[in-house]
Amino acid sequence: MAEIIDGKSIAEDVVAKVKQGAAALSQTGVVPGLAVVLVGEDPASQVYVAFKSRRAKECGFHSVQHTLPVDTDEDTLVKLIEELNVDKAIHGILVQLPLPAHIDAGRIIQTISPDKDVDGFHFINVGKLGTGELGTAFVPCTPAGAMLMLERVRGKDLSGLNAVVIGRSNIVGKPMANLLLAANATVTIAHSRTSDLPAIARTADILVAAVGRPEMVRGDWVKPGATVIDVGINRIPAPEKGEGKTRLVGDVAFAEASEKAGAITPVPGGVGPMTIAMLMANTLTSACRSAG
Ligand code: GUN
Repeated sequence: MAEIIDGKSIAEDVVAKVKQGAAALSQTGVVPGLAVVLVGEDPASQVYVAFKSRRAKECGFHSVQHTLPVDTDEDTLVKLIEELNVDKAIHGILVQLPLPAHIDAGRIIQTISPDKDVDGFHFINVGKLGTGELGTAFVPCTPAGAMLMLERVRGKDLSGLNAVVIGRSNIVGKPMANLLLAANATVTIAHSRTSDLPAIARTADILVAAVGRPEMVRGDWVKPGATVIDVGINRIPAPEKGEGKTRLVGDVAFAEASEKAGAITPVPGGVGPMTIAMLMANTLTSACRSAG
């Protein structure tokens, strides 16, 4: 049976270090500040944003949440971001995605100052990651957290290992592939148009699933001994728990995959807690940079 990579515990380690760093920085008069912006009332986004704001407070940060109505126009949102860009008390700005369809998410992301872009979605930070300028980039939180989990079982140097990333999103798949490449892995990006996905997955020493399809990756897709990182968080009906009940599952069929894998991340309690921990780490980094 596979080793379970405990995201909750690794995230606690990260947060404990962030708390220490924030306390030390605050002594010098700089309190890390995070602004989280939510537009609309998407229930999942509301939950994520509440977690992020709460974690920021726990870390000793100055934590601000802006909740705007679903019919907010794009220019109003741009103006808010421009204000946050010049607000000295704010070091990190996060606009929760997805945004309502009438807002151009690309324009909004590019309005965020790259120096406060703790999500790592601005072209400047994407470009730095793509060119290997990891020292000054903000790296997107979910792949950054996934890499830290991977490091616990495989170390920092992935030379000679085949990594397969299933999913090509800007938030996870593409930055994950770049991080794996920077760690010397041989990287394949697979996606919905890839032919014979199971065969490609079976070449992976490191298999990352980030597609948003519940339990798509089956046990026979997993090479014996592989490290499996499950980025999916999917809510599915759970009639066995009672009528109308649901449960969370990943993109990987956990029970099957854990019989083949050497190590695997669970859902919940895997990559999810790491995402928020890395957001805190990025915000502290930003505050430290601003303090010189
Ligand atoms: N929506 C889903 N994941 C993320 C994320 O990492 N950052 C933001 N801003 N929105 C998201």
